[in-house]
Amino acid sequence: MQSYTIYGINGPVVTVKGGRGLAMMDMVNVGDEALIGEVVGVDGDTTTVQVYEETSGLMPGQKVVSQGAPMSILLGPGLLHNIFDGIARPLSVIADRSGPFIHRGINVPTLDLEKQWDTTVLVKEGDTLRPGDCYAQCPETTLITHRCLVPAGVSGKVTKVLPSGSYNVEETLVELTDRLGEVHALKLAQRWPIRTPRPMAERLPIHRPLITGQRIIDTLFPIGKGGAAAIPGPFGAGKTMTQHQLAKWSDADIIVYLGCGERGNEMTQALDEFSELLDPKSQQPLMNRTILIANTSNMPVAAREASVYTGMTIAEYYRDMGYHVALMADSTSRWAEALREISGRLEEMPAEEGFPAYLASRLAEFYERAGYVKTLEGKEGSVTVIGAVSPQGGDFSEPVTQNTKRYVRTFWGLDRALAYGRHFPSINWLTSYSEYIDDLKPWYDQNVSPKFMADRQRIFTLLQEEEQLLEIVKLIGSDVLPEDQKLVLDTARLIRVGFLQQNSYNIIDTYVPLEKQFRMMELILELYDGARKLLERSIPLSQLRATGIFDTLSKVKYEVPNDHQERFDGYHDQIQAALRQVDEANR
Ligand SMILES: Nc1ncnc2c1ncn2[C@@H]1O[C@H](COP(=O)(O)OP(=O)(O)OP(=O)(O)O)[C@@H](O)[C@H]1O
Ligand SMILES: [Mg+2]
Repeated sequence: MQSYTIYGINGPVVTVKGGRGLAMMDMVNVGDEALIGEVVGVDGDTTTVQVYEETSGLMPGQKVVSQGAPMSILLGPGLLHNIFDGIARPLSVIADRSGPFIHRGINVPTLDLEKQWDTTVLVKEGDTLRPGDCYAQCPETTLITHRCLVPAGVSGKVTKVLPSGSYNVEETLVELTDRLGEVHALKLAQRWPIRTPRPMAERLPIHRPLITGQRIIDTLFPIGKGGAAAIPGPFGAGKTMTQHQLAKWSDADIIVYLGCGERGNEMTQALDEFSELLDPKSQQPLMNRTILIANTSNMPVAAREASVYTGMTIAEYYRDMGYHVALMADSTSRWAEALREISGRLEEMPAEEGFPAYLASRLAEFYERAGYVKTLEGKEGSVTVIGAVSPQGGDFSEPVTQNTKRYVRTFWGLDRALAYGRHFPSINWLTSYSEYIDDLKPWYDQNVSPKFMADRQRIFTLLQEEEQLLEIVKLIGSDVLPEDQKLVLDTARLIRVGFLQQNSYNIIDTYVPLEKQFRMMELILELYDGARKLLERSIPLSQLRATGIFDTLSKVKYEVPNDHQERFDGYHDQIQAALRQVDEANR
């Protein structure tokens, strides 16, 4: 093997001299401790390497060895229920071996190489296999069956096969001989280069929602399975909390949660919470369908750059098995800052706010890997991407937010004023949007109610009317408004307090199924319509207010548990009673 020597070191960027054998994107081992790095620049016999680990102590003259392949990770059973660093090294194992600090260069495999998996082999000698065909499977956790698929670019006849039984991830289960006579060994695990999107048969249109149980999301600004969303928000507005809520409650089969440059204790908290919580569908621990990737603020910056690709590759890997995967990245701004830092050290020409000129294309590449697809095997699977963005000072005009906006179709803009006023989730209903409404309408029509989207539109319109009226109120006060406009204000307040505000800490309110979201909207609109009829008869709104019905409805969210929706009937009766009471008083 040809070797190269270190010439210069600048933070995570190392220049290497000697020979011309290193190719762009090659994975390399750097220095005496064999730190993991990747070639990011080649110029004559000078090669630039980005190192994913602390480089202190590294010295010119030390060796660099190429692995002769692009930066790739090992994929197989054992990913779930685990926590990894940015280049897919398991953090718990690292802690066991070298204490809580990650030792450098220790070549820790992603997966436990000894663990035996109860494997069912699904092919026999003489079978012809193509990319995407499933040759073996094993229960990875109580929730997820791990299905092993022939990798892209590999096909042939089965010339050797082991019987079903217990195997580790390195044993060759199936040998496939291709037309040229080359033998391919198929195991429980396989490698995949992180920067290459995994192939699919076909991209399918987005047509069903990722159900999150968060009212403002599911009802007002839904995201489709396979879609992409951004959560931009100022410091402390609730980005992480929203991501956690989606990780806990959304109806994805698999969650890949990427803590990117954020506080270490948040990842520990996520790990603790997810370990304690049960999946609402199966009552199994949430970690059984979750993979955490942590590159916290104290970890090497280059690994942060890689971590989003690691997360995405893992997400696509499970998508290919026919699962619906949701990838949360908190925060993509910290990732962009990693790009900026490395770019600076590479002495590249900076563009807007010091970010490299390729910031936009990197963001595009990332979000474009989201999608609802037909897999090579012919199943449906999806990767939904939800990226938090933390713009400096909450200024949405900065480059990361602006570029992200170009590639996502759902935008949940968090608002400092709302968060300050304890209105949570602090998603601003006037600046947020979802471009999936039309794609998802048929699904809501069929699966919730044909009235759902119409109700949604009415709720949304009331909120917009409120905004305009508040402008007037600011100037002249609300007393002089006509009664029907006062009703709009009262109803909009009810929508904000009783519907949009949702308390993550309340057991009943933390997750709300679509059926209940719909019935809550129906109640609010029933009251609104009934009230309008009274106003048409010139009965002042104050009389209806005095019945307390608005207050009653604003508390429905805490009073009707998800499994007691028959209680909505009682509220319908209360609305009718209040309307009748006012009506009779005016006869
Ligand atoms: N849905 C919610 N229900 C109740 N409280 C919430 C909700 N969302 C946010 N909060 C409150 O806001 C606080 C800050 O939220 P969070 O840590 O998610 O903000 P952030 O935007 O991630 O902040 P940072 O910019 O520091 O990363 C939480 O600790 C919690 O008290
Ligand atoms: Mg946060």
